[in-house]
Amino acid sequence: MAIIAPSLLAANFLNLQQDCDMLNESQAEWFHLDVMDGRFVPNISYGPMIIEFIRKTTTKVCDVHLMIEEPEKYAEAFKKAGADILTVHIEACRHLHRNIQQIKSLGMKAGVALNPHTPVDSLKDVLQDIDMVLIMSVNPGFGGQSFIPKTLDKITTLKRMINEAGLSVQIEIDGGVTLENAPAIIAAGADILVAGNTVFKSPDPTATIAALKAL
Ligand code: DX5
Ligand code: ZN
Repeated sequence: MAIIAPSLLAANFLNLQQDCDMLNESQAEWFHLDVMDGRFVPNISYGPMIIEFIRKTTTKVCDVHLMIEEPEKYAEAFKKAGADILTVHIEACRHLHRNIQQIKSLGMKAGVALNPHTPVDSLKDVLQDIDMVLIMSVNPGFGGQSFIPKTLDKITTLKRMINEAGLSVQIEIDGGVTLENAPAIIAAGADILVAGNTVFKSPDPTATIAALKAL
């Protein structure tokens, strides 16, 4: 059974409280919070201020996905805002090992995200230092895109690497996850499913979360 992490990027920002309440009463375990800076990705979303408000509505895990350049400048701000897990992009980190240590020393779990073109092998020498790998199954920047099928191979390879090293690093899949493709994603070895549009644009988001959870 996978952990379900709905992405608030697809929520109603005029009434976030309502969507947070819905998630709190649902079977979703995590809140996935997408931060975009208009530099690392061609879109701007929200930052620590909004996360601080969301944090006040929930005791569930706040899973913060930073799609930003120079994440080291903001790690402390996201800790203060209430992040439990802070994920940085390998493509945005010249000193990834240092970024990971910074996140952990601030008392958060550390995740590393990979764009679709980045091989999972690139994590070989930091895998033992992190809690989670986020594999992007779309190019980051926007919700509502189609799942890139090649991602399934990346999950399988990464799962093998984790098992061979005897580690318990979790694998999160982000982008284009639907009720139709989720079974194959879970079968390949994913532990956490992010879902934005699939949850929030469905007629009954709570039931959709339950359906994802039941897979
Ligand atoms: C994309 C974000 C995703 C996005 C997923 O850059 O990282 O978390 O919100 O949205 P869907 O599930 O609609 O593809
Ligand atoms: Zn995300």
